[in-house]
Order: sequence, then structure tokens, then C-alpha cells
Amino acid sequence: MSTPISSIIDRIAAAGTAYESNQIGSRESLIELSRDLIATLEIPSEFLQRSFWAEVCVEKLALQACFVTDEFQPALSAHCKYAVQVKLFQHLRDAGDDGVGSEELAEKTGTDVLLLERIMRHLIAMKMIISFKGRFFGTALSHGLAADNYQQSIDFCYDVARPAFNVFPEYFKKAGYRPRITFTNGPLQAAHGTDLPFFDWLVATPPHLEEFDAFMSAYRAGKADWCSPGFYPVEEQLIQGFDPSNNEVLLVDVGGGRGHDTLSFSAQYAHPGKLVLQDREAVITSIRDKEALPFGCEAHDFFTPQPIQAARAYLLHSILHDWDDEAGIRILENLKPALKAGYSRVLLNEIVLSEENPTIAATSMDMMMMAHMGVRERTEVEWKAMIVKAGLRFVRTYNYPGVAESVIEAELL
Ligand SMILES: C[S@@+](CC[C@H](N)C(=O)[O-])C[C@H]1O[C@@H](n2cnc3c(N)ncnc32)[C@H](O)[C@@H]1O
Repeated sequence: MSTPISSIIDRIAAAGTAYESNQIGSRESLIELSRDLIATLEIPSEFLQRSFWAEVCVEKLALQACFVTDEFQPALSAHCKYAVQVKLFQHLRDAGDDGVGSEELAEKTGTDVLLLERIMRHLIAMKMIISFKGRFFGTALSHGLAADNYQQSIDFCYDVARPAFNVFPEYFKKAGYRPRITFTNGPLQAAHGTDLPFFDWLVATPPHLEEFDAFMSAYRAGKADWCSPGFYPVEEQLIQGFDPSNNEVLLVDVGGGRGHDTLSFSAQYAHPGKLVLQDREAVITSIRDKEALPFGCEAHDFFTPQPIQAARAYLLHSILHDWDDEAGIRILENLKPALKAGYSRVLLNEIVLSEENPTIAATSMDMMMMAHMGVRERTEVEWKAMIVKAGLRFVRTYNYPGVAESVIEAELL
């Protein structure tokens, strides 16, 4: 059943007007509608050429992974990896409004000029860079990708995620299309020849731990985060009613990586209580200049009882989605004894999968979960069931237009 083109174009025009008046979520709507337009117009030969030869950029890797084989590395993602190797996006950014000619860029990147020109032509066709009067110029997108956290994210997606996606078809086939993927036996292990679980494998294979942390801070950057105004009502729910006599800690960021969420929270709120970041020993040890941070850092294994009693809130951002129901419930059960009834809030900042209108952000993360850990994203019904099984009470879900992750609030029964 195809949607009439005129209806899509009308909706694009309406979303365009909303975008021009800075309406929240309108940029994401425009992108989604332009995908609708392409999906309606594109014929199979164009689809093949675009998705199997030309494209498979980082965000699409996950969706199209089911069809991609090991021998096949579509050009755009391969060129992004090349760009990281030779600092191509940085050279374009540094060239600014003058742009850079091919001879000069070939020299800066140490690349044969003919090869460079062919790669650049593809990047122009894919609208990542611009050429004008024989010179190359970066775009807002390529300038953005020149930042360190995106460079490391490209390495992570290309070197860690892509090989794991690539084994999907063979992995599924071998298992008779009924795979029983576990933490120690799944696409990641098949692709990388290991029997370590994902997080242990990251620690054992530098620089992947570093890249993963950069990826976690980058892949949702530019979006509102859980504590941005209009998302979770921090003032009303956390700051008002904060009582240091329970505990002087306002917020515990459980499994917070190197603290990008805690940092963002501390930059946005004049908070009356302490903030504490918790993660695995290896992650906490890798944080530099801890003393200069506006939060405390402590090593804590969330499969053991939570040591901070009666904090105002415990944030678990993208934590439970890494685990199956049994392990996720154990994490919540280890948190439960620390909660003060009627006071402590549990905030699960997670994707809530829609059956009706799944978004690329949600389904590609679901594929990532399957590839790396053999787990899945959950629907609201599944989240509620998990919270109830852990003996907590579901309070409500908060959403923000265009943001994939919701805030699910829970508390002690
Ligand atoms: C998907 S990342 C989420 C990081 C951060 N909360 C975010 O959303 O960007 C999962 C985090 O859980 C941490 N983690 C994994 N196993 C853990 C454990 N047993 N105890 C504490 N942290 C753990 C990882 O080191 C990683 O930082």
C-alpha cells in the first residue's frame, strides 16, 4: 500500500514550516518524511545501487546488516573509515572557506591523487562534501564528523559493529534461523573469534573500550538529553523535595561510563546535592583528572548491592537494554534495598520500542543489541513487566519529540 506522493509532499511542506519556526521534533519529522518520499519513488535497481554499493552509512549499517556479506563493504562507510585514517574531514575543516585542491589534499592525506579524486567524487555524490571550481570544501556534516568522538565512533562502528552485523545471515542460517544468542556466543563472538562477553572483550581489545565510550557519548549528541528542559521535570521531581538528611547525594549515574550524562546534568542545574558516577573498575580507572570533575566517581558492579542509600534518584541510562530480563531484574533487585520509599526515584533512560511506528534509531539499536549481546530493545509492556517483576512500581514514561530514548520512572512499591 503506497502513500500518494502529493500527501507526502504536503506533509513535508508542513514540517518545513514547523522547522523554520524552530518547532521541536520538526527536523526529525522532515528527515523521516524525506525517507518516505525516497521509499515511495525508488525502484528496485536504484535501491540496490544506493544501499548495496553506495551507502550503508553508519546509522544504516544496522538496518541493512541482514543483507550484507563479509566480502561486501559499501563505499560510503569504507570511505568514512579511510577519512578517519588520513584525517580527511579535519583537513577539509582546516581549509575553511578557501577549500583545498586535489594535489594539496593528496599530499596532506598521503594518498595517490587519482584514488583521492575518485573517493572525493563519491563523497560529493553522497552529499558529504562539496566541490566548487576545482576545489573541495567540507560541509556542516563532514566538519561535525571531524570531532574526536565521531572519529572514534566511526572506528567503533566500522571495526567492531560492522563485522558483527556482517555475520548475521550465515549465523542465522547455521542456527536454522532459530539462533539462541547468549552473552558469550553470538554474532560478535563469531565475527571477532572470541568467547568473551561484549564488555569484557572491549576491555581486552584496546582501543575498543575507548572507542565505545566515545561512541556512547556521540551517537545521541545534539539531541535533548533526559534532563533537558521539557523532557524529565528535574526541578519538580528531583530538586524540589530533595532532603540531604536522607543522603546528601542527589543523583547516582549507575553505569554512567565516563560521566557524559552526569557532566551534562551538572552543567544544566544548580543542584543542591552531590552527583556520583558509578561504573566498572576498568572504566572508572580510565577517567583522567577525576578531582577536577563536578561529580564523584566510584567503581561499583551493579550486580552487587547498591552502596549509596536513599539518594534522591538513580539514573540507569542504556543499562537494562544491555541485559536479558533475568539479569535486568537482578540489577534492579540490587538497587531496591537502597531506595527510600516515597522519596528515591529510579529513572530508566531507555528506548521504548513502538510496534506500530518503529523508528530507525530504535530498530538499529535493537540490531546492535542482537549483534553484540544477544539481547533486545523492549516495548512499554515489556518494560512495565520487568519493573513489576523486580518488585518496583511503574510511575510513568516521559518522551521528547524526535528523541529515541524515553525516561521511565519507577519507585519502591
Ligand atoms: C551501554 S553503556 C551506557 C553508558 C551510559 N550510561 C550511557 O548511556 O551513555 C553500559 C555501561 O554499563 C557499564 N557496565 C557494564 N557492566 C557493568 C557492571 N557489572 N557494573 C557496572 N557497570 C557496568 C559499562 O561499562 C558501560 O559504561
